[in-house]
Amino acid sequence: IHKNKLIAGNWKMNGSLAANAALVEALKQGVGEPACDVALCVPAPYLAQVQSLVAGSPLALGAQDVSAQAQGAYTGEQSSAMLKDFGVRYAIVGHSERRQYHGETDATVSAKTAAALSNGITPIVCVGETLAEREAGQTEEVVKRQLAAVIHVNGHCISEIVVAYEPVWAIGTGKTATPAQAQSVHALLRAQLHHAASEHAAGIRILYGGSMNAANAAELLAQPDINGGLIGGASLKAPDFLQIIAAAR
Ligand code: G3H
Repeated sequence: IHKNKLIAGNWKMNGSLAANAALVEALKQGVGEPACDVALCVPAPYLAQVQSLVAGSPLALGAQDVSAQAQGAYTGEQSSAMLKDFGVRYAIVGHSERRQYHGETDATVSAKTAAALSNGITPIVCVGETLAEREAGQTEEVVKRQLAAVIHVNGHCISEIVVAYEPVWAIGTGKTATPAQAQSVHALLRAQLHHAASEHAAGIRILYGGSMNAANAAELLAQPDINGGLIGGASLKAPDFLQIIAAAR
C-alpha cells in the first residue's frame, strides 16, 4: 500500500530568475519518467515562475511554509489558498529552520498543517532532534512529541500528510545519519502512526532529510521505512538531484 517514494527538493533561500530557469530546464531534460514523485519547494517569490516552468512535466510545485491563518492582517504571510492559486501541491511545515529562527512550536506546526490540508495541499511535516537532544538520549521523546502534534488534525485524514525526519545535526553539515540510525527513527515514527491510525500507517510516506546526496541516497532509500527524501543543498545541482531521483524506486 506504499505510494511512490517522494523526492522533494527544498531550495531554501536560494535562487534567482536566471538560476531557477537553468536548474528546472536541466531537471526536465534529465528526469524522464521518474519511478517516484518529485517536488520542488521554491522560495515564495518564484512560485509563479516555477509553476510555468514545470507545467506539463513530472515535477510538482511546493512551498517552504504556509500561514496558519486563512487571510487578513498577517504581514509577510502566504495563505494556503494563495499557494493553491499557483498550483502548489506540497508545503513544508515545521522545518527545523522555522522552529529555530522563527520560534515555531508544535502548536504552530499543527495549525499550519490544518491550514495546508484545508486547501488540499499536502503538508510535509518535519520532525527531528538537535545534537544536544540526541546526546541526552531524547531523540525518541522529541520526534514522538513533534509527530503527535499533527496526528490528530481535525477533520482530516492523517494519510494526506507526509512526514520528514530531519535530524538537525545532519542538516547542511555533510554529516548524514547512517542508514541504520535513520531507519531506527523511521521505524519508531511508523510504529507511532500504526498506534494512532493503524489503517493508514503503512501508506504514509516518511522522508529522510539531512545531507542526503547523490552518493548516499540509494542506501538510505533502500531502508524499509524510508519512503523518500527532503533534499536541501543537493537539490540545487541538477546532476545530483537527478541521481537522487533515479535512486528512488
Ligand atoms: O529540507 C532539507 C533539509 O533541511 C536538508 O538540507 O540537504 O542541505 O542537509 P541539506
